[in-house]
Amino acid sequence: MPTETRAGLVDSFGRRHNNLRVSVTDRCNLRCVYCMPENVAFLPRAEVLTFEEIERVVRVATTLGIDKVRLTGGEPLLRRDLPRLVELLAVVPGLSDIGLTTNGILLAREARRLRDAGLARINISLDTMDRGKFQQITRRDDFDRVIEGILAAKEAGFHPIKINAVAIRGFTEDDVVLLARFALEHGLEMRFIEYMPLDAGRLWEREKVLFAAEMIELLETGIAPLKPTADQDPRAPALDYEYTDGSGRVGFIASVSRPFCMSCNRIRITAEGKLRNCLFSLEETDLRALLRTGGSDDQIAQAVRDSVAAKWEGHEINTARFIQPERMMHSIGG
Ligand code: 5AD
Ligand code: SF4
Repeated sequence: MPTETRAGLVDSFGRRHNNLRVSVTDRCNLRCVYCMPENVAFLPRAEVLTFEEIERVVRVATTLGIDKVRLTGGEPLLRRDLPRLVELLAVVPGLSDIGLTTNGILLAREARRLRDAGLARINISLDTMDRGKFQQITRRDDFDRVIEGILAAKEAGFHPIKINAVAIRGFTEDDVVLLARFALEHGLEMRFIEYMPLDAGRLWEREKVLFAAEMIELLETGIAPLKPTADQDPRAPALDYEYTDGSGRVGFIASVSRPFCMSCNRIRITAEGKLRNCLFSLEETDLRALLRTGGSDDQIAQAVRDSVAAKWEGHEINTARFIQPERMMHSIGG
């Protein structure tokens, strides 16, 4: 284990990083237009980190102050036996929280085992309550399976369950209230994520982002007035609100209209073991090379520290300087 562990992962802007997002596969059983193209070449299996390699990186990262891990993809449940990875991570000292972001399609089958393995939190993506629109945005006809997956997660005892919807102008407006109502009915937390430029077709334009402020207006008209929650975590990316009639809460990830880079506490590893210090990074660190050529824990720790030390101030989506990374969302891990 690395010897020097006190400093933690603090970057040159004073941001302390405790949150690691691990993509376990770049494959997906949907083809959401904002995330990947219809036809895409996936990584050969040999290039993807094994569960043991992931566990090693996580162990080293926890000695540096990482205490939260979220498993992402692609679709993480396409990785055979994912609950076994959760089991491996659940006993890593210093890790207090394991989460999963999934599209829900395979969740009906896996929810119980994931829970038993020690998974604490689950986020499920659902962009619309309309089957036709679901097919339009995901290019697949799996709306019912996602709903079944959400209900299975509830049945398995996950709480809270967060539902993520990407908010796109000209698509999402009519669904804002419908999704929020569905969430309230089932005791789920709805979260709307402003559409970000990480799509395959490079179709993103600022005009296509449906902003948090507009969604708040729609919800206040359609459901009930909203107020910011009292326990709002200033480091969390989501702006959390609650309905003043006490019916529940709703969150917004306002990455475009209200960037939260200055409180960012996240780093990410891609399925093939590249460390990224930002969703929008143009550079990455090859941890797999270290893992597979006999690198020591100290060397891995140093590579993680160096990556964090080199982290930039934040994305520049709102400026002309913005450069969209080569990678699309499915190969970064949301
Ligand atoms: N903009 C915003 N959110 C996105 N996601 C995927 N691509 C984008 C994008 N271009 C979301 C997914 C999922 C999470 C992993 O990231 O819908 O909720
Ligand atoms: Fe963090 Fe980069 Fe996202 Fe900003 S854009 S919040 S720095 S990951």
